Amino acid sequence: MTLEELFLKRQSTREFSDVPVTDAELEKICRLATLAPSAINGQPYMLYAVNGEKAKAFRKNIQINGANGWADTATAFIVIEQTAEISVTRGERTVSNAQFIGNDIGILAAYIALAAEDIGVQNCIVGLRDEAAIAEFLSLPAGTKFPLIIALGHAADGCPVRAKRRKPFESVYKLIK
Ligand SMILES: Cc1cc2nc3c(=O)[nH]c(=O)nc-3n(C[C@H](O)[C@H](O)[C@H](O)COP(=O)(O)O)c2cc1C
Repeated sequence: MTLEELFLKRQSTREFSDVPVTDAELEKICRLATLAPSAINGQPYMLYAVNGEKAKAFRKNIQINGANGWADTATAFIVIEQTAEISVTRGERTVSNAQFIGNDIGILAAYIALAAEDIGVQNCIVGLRDEAAIAEFLSLPAGTKFPLIIALGHAADGCPVRAKRRKPFESVYKLIK
């Protein structure tokens, strides 16, 4: 699959079969995703791969006010924990990644989604979540931030690759020269 084919194939999948994602696949996806660039190479995250029976128990953490009901069919989750900001001193200057952490985590999520699709694991990036419940689920301190979750599985039989619905390209692109 070329990169272009991968970009066209990756989509938010919201109906999964009961074919499990293996622990090895989850590790491979996360290993590749950690190659994502981040401000001052800070990698301000920790990844938790949730699989098997734990994944079934996790689903409710992203089902808020009736939304994301489809997650009942997801068989695995990758939870992104946001970790503390860091700074590095370069000569006279000290540089912090604080203002870029959101960017770093968005890029990481995109890498996860594409790495997963590349090995035949469909997925959906999820922003709706109950962070307090996730902290309790993972036995982490209250107040821990989990900006994004990726729900994963194998697309249910007959799930088509949809045509992309996007703003007209001309409305989001201008060449300046
Ligand atoms: C930051 C972010 C948060 C999202 N949160 C949710 C969500 O909570 N539930 C959901 O079903 N889809 C969610 N999505 C998926 C988007 O709806 C989807 O990416 C968009 O409609 C484009 O469709 P596509 O991914 O199939 O190309 C989220 C996507 C992103 C990037």
